[in-house]
Amino acid sequence: MKQGRSAWAGRCLPGQARCRPAGPGGRPPGVKEPIVPAGSNAGQPPPRAGQAKQVHLAVQLPGIHNVTVWTDPRSESQIAVDSFVRLARAAERGKFDFFFLAEGLRLREHKGQVYDLDVVGRPENLTMLAALAAVTTRLGLAATVNTTFNEPYEVARRFATLDLLSEGRTAWNVVTSYDAFTGENFRRGGYLDEADRYTRAAEFLATAKELWASWGEDDLVADAASGEFVRPGAGRFAHHGEHFDISGRFGTPRGPQGHPVIIQSGESDAGREFAARDADVIFSKYSSLEQARPFYQDVKRRLAAYGRTHDDLKILPTATAVVADTDEEARAYADEITREQVSPQTAIAHLEGVWGRDLSAYDPDGPLPDVDPEPESLILKGHSVFRKGREETARQWREIAGERGLSIRELMIEVHGGQTFVGSPRTVADRIDHFVQSDGADGFILVPHLTPDGLDEVVDRVVPLLQEKGVYREDYTGPTLRDHLGLGLPKETP
Ligand SMILES: Cc1cc2nc3c(=O)[nH]c(=O)nc-3n(C[C@H](O)[C@H](O)[C@H](O)COP(=O)(O)O)c2cc1C
Repeated sequence: MKQGRSAWAGRCLPGQARCRPAGPGGRPPGVKEPIVPAGSNAGQPPPRAGQAKQVHLAVQLPGIHNVTVWTDPRSESQIAVDSFVRLARAAERGKFDFFFLAEGLRLREHKGQVYDLDVVGRPENLTMLAALAAVTTRLGLAATVNTTFNEPYEVARRFATLDLLSEGRTAWNVVTSYDAFTGENFRRGGYLDEADRYTRAAEFLATAKELWASWGEDDLVADAASGEFVRPGAGRFAHHGEHFDISGRFGTPRGPQGHPVIIQSGESDAGREFAARDADVIFSKYSSLEQARPFYQDVKRRLAAYGRTHDDLKILPTATAVVADTDEEARAYADEITREQVSPQTAIAHLEGVWGRDLSAYDPDGPLPDVDPEPESLILKGHSVFRKGREETARQWREIAGERGLSIRELMIEVHGGQTFVGSPRTVADRIDHFVQSDGADGFILVPHLTPDGLDEVVDRVVPLLQEKGVYREDYTGPTLRDHLGLGLPKETP
């Protein structure tokens, strides 16, 4: 729907929710999907032969981007272990599959200073998950760890250890970020070409799997009578490849899952192929049904070439859920949250990220700058969104803002803000179910805007309705994350 400035300018005061221009489909700018009225048939899953698909839910502790509103008086520490523990416990109370941590390997910089509009200073993932393993019993624990700046032996050893101490609840989100800015932290200056990063990632993962498979199930004997502690062949490995040429003995016995669940989160063709061959879960960015369905079909279609079936890979987009007593209250709340997430400062910083120049003189409630972007200059560093295609992005943003008469901040809300599921508990449960039954996803990785208690509304008010519909577990049926995801032992497990 095209809407010119004249349709709304001059009739509204800035900041009034009901006065802001509608997004695509006539919906308010803070809401990504068409709103399904509570109790209406529109939110019901389409008829399917056989049983309804089960919904998988996970939670991400927010902070890498601007989802978390750390300035909200209800927010508590974004760094302290207690916040991680409380969010993890809420997820386990809601029988979630897993708790997810993203990773940024270098503090972002904006005009030469640390970019601190988002959270800065998060502790290291695997150490934090080890702490969470001690205070949870069933919840899966997923860490993002990069393959460009690490070595397989070390990463495999740390995940094997976490899988042992959590008794089979670990997942590894394999990411391939490569930029030179991050590389400086590792004295490698982004040495890896973009084209090579998935080649390295694939060999990295294959090597890690060889290391995990180097211990058979019965290799740890510990037989006092015979005096034998391990079988003679335990941990022996030899990998000779393009990126890694290593041989020796791997030090850590295999955990209950054979090896950790593998998550992938890239979206390029190489990333999709990598996922179809090697991943158990994809963390995708496609949280609108319109975009999610083709992605889902494309990746599931690729599985057959690797001898895999539809259910061997779960696709879980990132999503937010704003729950209130009524749909109307939820819409107003969603709008408020979105405006907090895209503050005037964040709006200008994001625009500067694409324009590559200082735009601090521009009014966030005014029109886009008349000056052209400088695509070669990077003033917001370490932020993947602003890494490439900036000229094209600037062109598209100008087009959207021009067509709909959006101010800088409104445009940023339209392109970077917005909530996925908004409504009463019933509406949110219907919409989550509908999305999954329509093959847009197998579930979601929810990202609350408040740390640490932002998941409670979903756990206490939405989960029971999903259970009532018969599309969500009443309780965990097994001890491991592979059990939660309906996955068997990996084929490489000896
Ligand atoms: C939903 C999503 C989450 C991601 N999370 C991280 C992360 O936490 N840390 C990281 O270094 N890269 C992260 N990435 C980046 C990807 O792993 C990958 O490096 C990037 O998307 C480029 O790969 P591609 O060309 O296949 O898309 C994420 C990407 C997506 C789509």
